Amino acid sequence: MWHKFATHLPQLTVQLVVATLPPNSTMEDDEAYWNPSPSGNFSLRTAYAYLNDTVSTLPRLPWSLVWKWIGPQRIKSFFWLLLNRGVLSNAERNRRHLTDVDRCHLCQVESESYFHLLRDCTAVKDIWLQIIPIRFQAFFFNPYISFVDWCFGNLKEDSQKCSVIEGTLKKGLLQPAGDTQLRAVFWSCPLQGFVKLNCDASITGALSSAFGGGLIRNSSGRWVGGFVSNLGQCSILRSKIWSIFHGLEYALSINARNILIEFNNAIAVDMINDVVLPSASCLSLVRQIRQLLNAFDSAHLSHIHREGNFVADSLSHHAYTFDPGVHYLSEPPDCIASWLFHDLVGVTYFR
Ligand SMILES: *[C@@H]1O[C@H](CO)[C@@H](O)[C@H](O)[C@H]1NC(C)=O
Ligand SMILES: *[C@@H]1O[C@H](CO)[C@@H](O)[C@H](O)[C@H]1NC(C)=O
Ligand SMILES: *[C@@H]1O[C@H](CO)[C@@H](O)[C@H](O)[C@H]1NC(C)=O
Ligand SMILES: *[C@@H]1O[C@H](CO)[C@@H](O)[C@H](O)[C@H]1NC(C)=O
Repeated sequence: MWHKFATHLPQLTVQLVVATLPPNSTMEDDEAYWNPSPSGNFSLRTAYAYLNDTVSTLPRLPWSLVWKWIGPQRIKSFFWLLLNRGVLSNAERNRRHLTDVDRCHLCQVESESYFHLLRDCTAVKDIWLQIIPIRFQAFFFNPYISFVDWCFGNLKEDSQKCSVIEGTLKKGLLQPAGDTQLRAVFWSCPLQGFVKLNCDASITGALSSAFGGGLIRNSSGRWVGGFVSNLGQCSILRSKIWSIFHGLEYALSINARNILIEFNNAIAVDMINDVVLPSASCLSLVRQIRQLLNAFDSAHLSHIHREGNFVADSLSHHAYTFDPGVHYLSEPPDCIASWLFHDLVGVTYFR
């Protein structure tokens, strides 16, 4: 009789059916039986051992690297999800037929694969380039490596691939509570109703010319406007104070009422806030700035470390190409796009 089944079913299936007792109404009802355990009762221990046996032929991944990574739990979970293809990037959603478009939201050009999302998108790459030490960049940006190898390679302690990120994170997270020496530095959005002005200046070139730059962002962290200035010859302190002056003038011209000013020169901040006496060369500028500050409904000037002021810093470098004087920018120049993003996502430094 079984040969009739054999023409319709695979050999193995037939043999399994052959070995199975046919149902019989006089017998007891069927019940669930967990084969891996002798009692037939399910237990996690036997399930694990069973799976362990089944998958032990596959390459064993060093999952402990993920769970032993020293950092916030939610980031560990994120790594774990990524390595299990559980993060719904557009390419992944497309693979699951949840969308037709697998394109990246940021660059609108390429498919949003994990590599693209985390490493290769133009919006992201520039940030990595600033963070990853040059000697590790060949590994980090290797286009031929598999995603899993790349992740574990970066997590590996001894390879120190991301020593900078790891180092800063560890320093920040492992520091005992109450130790105030280490501070997190990052740019943050101003409160609702406020705008934030960041400005900076630098001196460069054979003629030691001074260049300034600054920008205003709203409470969503978006660009409102900016300026660059070619200041000619002056001291670094004066050039920095000039950039505050130009920034405030610009803020008034666009009717900003409530303003926070962040600036990475502590002496200039103290001079304007009347904590130290302004030096003679800066006195008139400082007075002008105090007048401008009074024109706002509310204005607050504070010092920020340069890690929180990168956009203004790169704007001041962008100023090299401009004629002397102040130039207002309604659109952010391309060269600062990645820094704007850097601030928007709140990249954090510890110092
Ligand atoms: C069911 O089991 C009883 C007792 O073992 C047996 O006498 C009977 O023939 C079986 N019925 C069938 C259809 O196999
Ligand atoms: C299996 O589970 C049942 C019900 O949960 C219990 O009555 C029985 O004693 C268990 N058997 C063994 C061997 O542990
Ligand atoms: C899982 O498998 C590995 C290698 O095959 C073995 O060393 C380990 O003891 C197993 N673990 C358990 C709980 O059976
Ligand atoms: C900030 O600016 C962006 C872009 O101009 C705008 O879409 C957003 O609504 C603004 N947010 C606030 C709180 O004004």
